[in-house]
Amino acid sequence: MAQAAQTPEAPSVTERAQDEAFWQQVAAQYDVEPGPINLEYGYFGRMTRKALRNYEENLAYVNRSNSVYVRQQFDSVDSEVIRAQLASLVGAATHEIAITRCASEGLQSLIRNYNELRPGDQLLISDLDYMSVQTAMRWLAKARGIELIEIQHAHPASYDAVLDAYRQAFENNPRLKLMALTHVTHRTGLVMPVQAIAALAREHGVDVILDGAHALGQMDFKVSELGVAFAGYNLQKWIGAPLSLGFIFVAEDRLLSVDPDMGDGRYPLDELLSRVPYGTPNIPALMTLPTVFEEHLAVGGSAVKGARLNYLRELWVKPAREIPGIEVLTPDDPRLCCGISAFRFTLHADQDVMIERLLREHGLFTVARDGSACGPCIRVTPGFTTSAADVAQLVTALRALA
Ligand SMILES: Cc1ncc(COP(=O)(O)O)c(C=O)c1O
Repeated sequence: MAQAAQTPEAPSVTERAQDEAFWQQVAAQYDVEPGPINLEYGYFGRMTRKALRNYEENLAYVNRSNSVYVRQQFDSVDSEVIRAQLASLVGAATHEIAITRCASEGLQSLIRNYNELRPGDQLLISDLDYMSVQTAMRWLAKARGIELIEIQHAHPASYDAVLDAYRQAFENNPRLKLMALTHVTHRTGLVMPVQAIAALAREHGVDVILDGAHALGQMDFKVSELGVAFAGYNLQKWIGAPLSLGFIFVAEDRLLSVDPDMGDGRYPLDELLSRVPYGTPNIPALMTLPTVFEEHLAVGGSAVKGARLNYLRELWVKPAREIPGIEVLTPDDPRLCCGISAFRFTLHADQDVMIERLLREHGLFTVARDGSACGPCIRVTPGFTTSAADVAQLVTALRALA
C-alpha cells in the first residue's frame, strides 16, 4: 500500500529568518528605486506593491466619492472596523485605541493631557528618549511648575544597569509621578526591558508613557501585557502602512487620568477618541490598513519580521565586534537588542564624515546619530528587502574604513 505523503513541518521562526529564498520572495513584493543599499529603514518602512496599489485606489476613490462615502460609510462604519482590526493586531480592546497622525502627536497629547500631576510631583526622562517626547516632557514640567529629572544611561548598556538607573531614579526622587520610556531607542536600537521597568515604576507609584514607535511590527508583544497604561505608536516603520498614521493606547481603567484634548467635546468623557487631536485624518491611508495588516501577517507578523531583522543584525555585528577601530554600541543581550544597532569608528572623530564615505566609497546608506550620553554613532537599520549579501557589504566596508 502506498504510504501517505508526509506534510513537511512548518519552518521555525529562526529557520524562516535565515531563509534567503523566502526573503527574496518577500523582497519581490516591493518596488525599490535603484540606488545605494539602504540601511536606514529606521526612518520609515516601505509599503508592499499591493498595499501601495490599494492606497492609490483608495485615494482615487475618496477623491471621486468625496464626503458622500466619508460621511455615509467611513466615519460611522469603516473607521470603526479598521480601529477594531488595529486593536486586535496589537492586543488591546478597541476602546483602548485611538488613531493619530503619527507617534509624536499621540505621545504629545498623552503628555499634555495627563491630569494626575500635583504641585511638588516630579517627571522623569532619559537621554535615550526621543526628542519630541523629551521636549514635550520639558514643556510639561515648565508649564505646570514641576521638577523634571533627567537621567543618563550608562554605556555600554546592560540589563542590570538599565534597571538600576530607573531604580535609583525612583529611590532618589520619591515624588516622581510620571515618566517617559522608549521601548526601542532610536539612536542605538537599545531595547528597554519594558515589563521589568514598568513593574518597578508601579511599585514606586510612577505612571509610564511608553514610546513604542520603533517596537511595533518588529517586537512581538501585546500592548495590554506590557504593564503600562499609556503608549503611543506609529504605523509606518515595521507594519508597512502609508505615512501619516499612528495611534495611542490607554488602558481602560486609566482613561480618566487623561483629559479630552483641548477641551474636545465631540465624544463622551468615557470615550478615548476625545483624547487625541481633532482634525480630518488621511482617510485613504486609513482605508489601506486592512491590506497592510493582511500583508504583515502573511509574512509571519512581528515574530518573523523581528527574527529576520535580528538575524541581519547578527550578520554584521558579530564580525564588526572583531574589527579594530569599530565599536558596536548596542549590546548583544537578546533582551536588549533588535534589528536596529549602532556603531562608531573609534579612530575617526567625525561620524558624519564616515557616513559620507560609507555612501560614496561603498554605496551604503546609513545615518549618524548623537545627543545621548553614549556619544555620536552610526545607526544601521536593515529592512525587509535587505539581503544577507547587502549586510556582507557593510562588513567589507567597515574593514576597509576602520
Ligand atoms: C523612538 C521614536 N519615537 C518617536 C518617533 C516619532 O515618530 P513619528 O514620526 O511617527 O512622530 C520616532 C521616529 O523615528 C522614534 O524613533
